[in-house]
Amino acid sequence: MNSPWISELVATAAAPYRAVGCFAWHFARGKLRGDPIFTALLERGLIPPQARIHDLGCGQGLLAAWLRAAQSRYVAGDWPRNWPPAPQPTWIHGMEMMPRDVWRARRALGESAEFVQGDIRTGDFGPADVVVIFDVLHYFNFSVQDRVLRRVRDSLCPHGVLLLRVGNTAGGLRFVLSYWVDLLVIMARGHRLRRLYCRSVANWTGALESLGFTVDALPMSRGTPFANVLLVARLRKAHG
Ligand SMILES: C[S@@+](CC[C@H](N)C(=O)[O-])C[C@H]1O[C@@H](n2cnc3c(N)ncnc32)[C@H](O)[C@@H]1O
Repeated sequence: MNSPWISELVATAAAPYRAVGCFAWHFARGKLRGDPIFTALLERGLIPPQARIHDLGCGQGLLAAWLRAAQSRYVAGDWPRNWPPAPQPTWIHGMEMMPRDVWRARRALGESAEFVQGDIRTGDFGPADVVVIFDVLHYFNFSVQDRVLRRVRDSLCPHGVLLLRVGNTAGGLRFVLSYWVDLLVIMARGHRLRRLYCRSVANWTGALESLGFTVDALPMSRGTPFANVLLVARLRKAHG
């Protein structure tokens, strides 16, 4: 990884949040710099070119900001030679429950992505090539998680991909730390939750396979004390 280059990409992606406010800008910089998932998406080519993307529980729209910054670097010819081409999404739709985050996302990114305030447990999220759910499903009980996953499966085109980041309950002390940090942050953000609903990677994988996905589990905590895993779930053609 080219660190100075990544730092510049982070600065480019976070810049639109400056006009939104100090918190939004600092949060964008810290999260994009500290969370390994953003670089991994590009370095590993996890988002196919010209994809239609749903970002469910999108927060203030950081994924859209990141992909937009990556695309502008790529088009300018400023791109690591050993990385696959930057994704050039056809569109990105974010769905987020908290009005404040939706406002921040819209204000920062204008027309380049669409953000709706909605509840992913019930909202309609139409056809897509890629569905992204980072650090969201543990807000819901297990049967609701399964219902959301089934609806995601039904919304994906053949060979579509679900990128699902979860905390792994089999991750020992790292998981315990992730759990309590998440719960405290979630409560501080105004969600009325008293517990989180987490599973092991084996359990998530089983649930996704039963829905017709094949699953690769990629550790996604590099540089952090957490037990996060990115499940790359690809839809097999025929699913029941
Ligand atoms: C930990 S944050 C992750 C944000 C974003 N995915 C990211 O990685 O930057 C989880 C987000 O899910 C949102 N969320 C929780 N329950 C939701 C629901 N039922 N519908 C839509 N968004 C929800 C929260 O408001 C929060 O913004």
